[in-house]
Amino acid sequence: METYPKIVRLKDGSKATLRPMVEGDVQKLLAFFRRLPEEDRLFLKEDVTDEKVIQQWADQLDYEKVFAVLAFVGDDIVGDATLHTDHRGWTRHIGEVRCVVAKEYQRKGLGTTLIREMFHRALQKGLHKLRAQMPDTQLGAMKAFQTIGFKKEAVLKEHMMDTKGNKHDLVIMTNLVDELWRKITDQMMEETFSAEH
Ligand SMILES: CC(C)(COP(=O)(O)OP(=O)(O)OC[C@H]1O[C@@H](n2cnc3c(N)ncnc32)[C@H](O)[C@@H]1OP(=O)(O)O)[C@@H](O)C(=O)NCCC(=O)NCCS
Repeated sequence: METYPKIVRLKDGSKATLRPMVEGDVQKLLAFFRRLPEEDRLFLKEDVTDEKVIQQWADQLDYEKVFAVLAFVGDDIVGDATLHTDHRGWTRHIGEVRCVVAKEYQRKGLGTTLIREMFHRALQKGLHKLRAQMPDTQLGAMKAFQTIGFKKEAVLKEHMMDTKGNKHDLVIMTNLVDELWRKITDQMMEETFSAEH
């Protein structure tokens, strides 16, 4: 936690500040989610345009269960990533990563940066494997997770119903934390090398 707030540089040279969500972020988060285009919101697990949903997140903030990092540009939230973990049971070694970036900030590397933050948290928590879930129609999201090292592990037929009631195949992408560690350190070394030359 001592590493936050963290300032990151995006591909277009602009900067964003990352920090964990706090109770006072409800209105800003609501504004962020309400600004998302419908196609990016349609598949989020909960109705994030409902103030009650966001208020409940704030009331129940527990970084050990759900670690949420927000990306700010100025006062506005432009990205949100969460790492969900179970404390007990069969899947206590698994973390689920969710990430959403404002349309105007996509393709600038922010999604990758936020997913890496979740990965570092997973590493700190000693998790073994990470999972991300998305409908098979979210090709951009699949590509973004693939770029960082996730692989498609399963497809559950008609397993997801969007907020409009349409059914979609659910893609489950996973990565072992150890493998991801190697991939991310390789990528970071490449980025440092190309920035220096
Ligand atoms: C998934 C998401 C978070 C990615 O955020 P992002 O900030 O655009 O990601 P990045 O800029 O780091 O992209 C990394 C790479 O992923 C791929 N990618 C990302 N979006 C893409 C798109 N729409 N089409 C094709 N490739 C895409 C590209 O290879 C990209 O690298 P490049 O821009 O150098 O070519 C964003 O698209 C989003 O918010 N989608 C809606 C919510 C969602 O579906 N979340 C996933 C389920 S949790």
